[in-house]
Amino acid sequence: MALVNENFLKLPGSYLFSDIAKKVNSFKVTHPKQDIIRLGIGDVTRPLPEACLEAMHKAVNDLSKAETFRGYGPEQGYDFLIEAIIKNDYAPRGIHFSNSEVFVNDGAKSDTGNIGDILRHDNSVGVTDPIYPVYIDSNVMSGRAGELDIESGKWSNITYMPCTSENNFIPQIPDKRIDIVYLCYPNNPTGTTLTKAELKKWVDYALENDTLILFDAAYEAYIQEDDVPHSIYEIKGARKCAIEFRSFSKTAGFTGVRCGYTVVPKELTASTITGERVELNKLWNRRQSTKFNGTSYITQRAAEAIYTPEGKKQIKENIDYYMTNAGIMKEALESSGLTVYGGVNAPYLWIKTPNNMSSWKFFDQLLYEANIVGTPGVGFGPSGEGYLRLTAFGERENCIEAMRRIKNWL
Ligand code: MLT
Repeated sequence: MALVNENFLKLPGSYLFSDIAKKVNSFKVTHPKQDIIRLGIGDVTRPLPEACLEAMHKAVNDLSKAETFRGYGPEQGYDFLIEAIIKNDYAPRGIHFSNSEVFVNDGAKSDTGNIGDILRHDNSVGVTDPIYPVYIDSNVMSGRAGELDIESGKWSNITYMPCTSENNFIPQIPDKRIDIVYLCYPNNPTGTTLTKAELKKWVDYALENDTLILFDAAYEAYIQEDDVPHSIYEIKGARKCAIEFRSFSKTAGFTGVRCGYTVVPKELTASTITGERVELNKLWNRRQSTKFNGTSYITQRAAEAIYTPEGKKQIKENIDYYMTNAGIMKEALESSGLTVYGGVNAPYLWIKTPNNMSSWKFFDQLLYEANIVGTPGVGFGPSGEGYLRLTAFGERENCIEAMRRIKNWL
């Protein structure tokens, strides 16, 4: 008899975005004529940059000839891409890595979800709240999250660090030791950021408490302000306490192409139960070479093209397009009388629901009365209750039309 991993039975029925997709689909069945504007899941709408498309076509041609054909690639990624990453994303900020510290993957979701494979099931976990649901759900699957308290919506072995308008969305440093802390900045879902000085407090906390920080920087390309760190390694000491996840999904429109990378510095160690220090880089390398066969050659060539002068220019145009959407939306929502956070260094707008309405009620009303899909804040954690997230990744005319509808509706 095969026994199931019963931790899976503790999870909510479906993943947040699948749940929303189901609700939207049933709305469509009952209201087939309504024109829905989707500003829910953070999926991009601009086509791939021309430089990436050209690189992909060329890579396809490489595969068509015996001399340039590639089969299995290195599980960690091709050197051509890893070198472009180190040279462009880190060296200009004075951060230096060797090739073996960077692991190319198929997007940040996989690695942020899988990183727990190399960490014991009984580590304590801390998350900022609200947060990207993958961090919590993957810890539930491994048994690390403990038990769910239905009333509070919290897992017993997870420490929640609320980020709300009351604390200006700045999580308070815990007053106790936590083994693993997830940070995502610029933040999904609130669109808010930490300054270098604030992030330094976390690195200092981690070094003092032997805490591992899992830092998700998937939205760093959207940062507009100077004092916002693009990488946790801009902070001294972070190489000893942090793993960083990056993604090309939002940077270059790769949500469908699938590519990102994870940095696991050689200096980073964690402990065995008997106190022996182990390099996490070695464990992650072992995990990846066993369970992952690398990102496709065509995809990695496309990612490499992001770092060419044309690629840089083209991705900037797309990012500017989305950030212009964010500005238009923020202004329109505020002029409709709503309180809005984020949208300055990130493509997400975090809206306070009017009249203290619940997140789901606001979501339903927005869908049924204005035909706009958002994401209920509470879906990202208990402190998201009373908020709703809109993405700025839509097409311009849809964003403008959505704002017009919200204004009329309110
Ligand atoms: C989101 O909407 O939060 C993201 O697009 C989901 C993801 O990146 O997997």
